[in-house]
Amino acid sequence: MSTSPEPHRAPTGPSDTLPLRNGMHIPVLGLGVFRSPAGRVTQQAVTAALDVGYRHIDTAAIYGNEADVGHGLRDSGLDRDQVFITTKLWKADHGYQSTLDAFERSRRQLSVDHIDLYLIHWPVPGIRLETWRAMEHLLDTGAARAIGVSNYMAHHLEELLDHARHLPSVNQIELSPYNYRSRADVIDLSRKNGILVEAYSPLTKGRKLDDPPLVRIAATHQRSTAQVLIRWALQHDLVVLAKSTHADRIADNADVFDFTLTDTEMETLDALDENLVTGWDPTTAP
Ligand SMILES: NC(=O)c1ccc[n+]([C@@H]2O[C@H](COP(=O)([O-])OP(=O)(O)OC[C@H]3O[C@@H](n4cnc5c(N)ncnc54)[C@H](OP(=O)(O)O)[C@@H]3O)[C@@H](O)[C@H]2O)c1
Repeated sequence: MSTSPEPHRAPTGPSDTLPLRNGMHIPVLGLGVFRSPAGRVTQQAVTAALDVGYRHIDTAAIYGNEADVGHGLRDSGLDRDQVFITTKLWKADHGYQSTLDAFERSRRQLSVDHIDLYLIHWPVPGIRLETWRAMEHLLDTGAARAIGVSNYMAHHLEELLDHARHLPSVNQIELSPYNYRSRADVIDLSRKNGILVEAYSPLTKGRKLDDPPLVRIAATHQRSTAQVLIRWALQHDLVVLAKSTHADRIADNADVFDFTLTDTEMETLDALDENLVTGWDPTTAP
């Protein structure tokens, strides 16, 4: 399959970036905060990540912790423009005006002037094209610096490509060695249209961290299996979103820029594909 974009310099740290179609750049490693409890836990996870060099946080309205992401960002002492913030429009908020209203609520919760990347969280049938028109308006006004989609499989994307005035900058989907080959069609379609692919649940929500072939590769490099999964995603030119609420794991997950998986190891990992879905399954969504 031809899932690689143009070759480029390998990233050397979590703040290294990949280009988006609109000229912006997105840091290659983001801290995910799905199921990161509201309050101090998320605030501290965000500051811990920013302390060790992450410059990208991935939240969503439905996670209920946007305010804590904003709090952690302010506590870090970094300037707003140094950190890339993504949030997402929840399913119940699709529709033109409801999208604009939901965006404003997220912006207020985060306490920021603009959102770097605003995503449609899930392709709700019947209404998602109307929602996309509101997303395009948010892009036109500069309130969202980039817009994109999540959980869009090839059929969802094809519909959008036929109707969009602005194409999405990003498609955020579940990706790990355990489903990468199964999702080759949507990765290829995204990239052919200049849409950057982000990997969510790259650690398989912890389910595969003891899988023997993965453990063997990790042992070769004297790394954790989590680090190998993140490195694998980076070597496939994916922006990778890993979640932890523990400062030590947050640091370890970013310590992946000083080793390289061989081509054989990458192929071994790719061959672990079993069409794994750890959460939502968008493949059958109309
Ligand atoms: N767009 C979407 O529909 C969607 C769906 C799912 C996820 N996402 C995004 O992607 C992010 C990541 O996905 P995810 O949260 O589903 O799962 P994940 O990152 O694949 O896995 C997170 C799990 O792995 C554990 N973990 C993290 N680092 C570890 C390490 N070094 N060693 C051992 N265990 C480790 C975490 O536990 P601790 O926290 O206890 O360390 C947590 O249980 C989310 O947070 C969210 O931002 C988006």
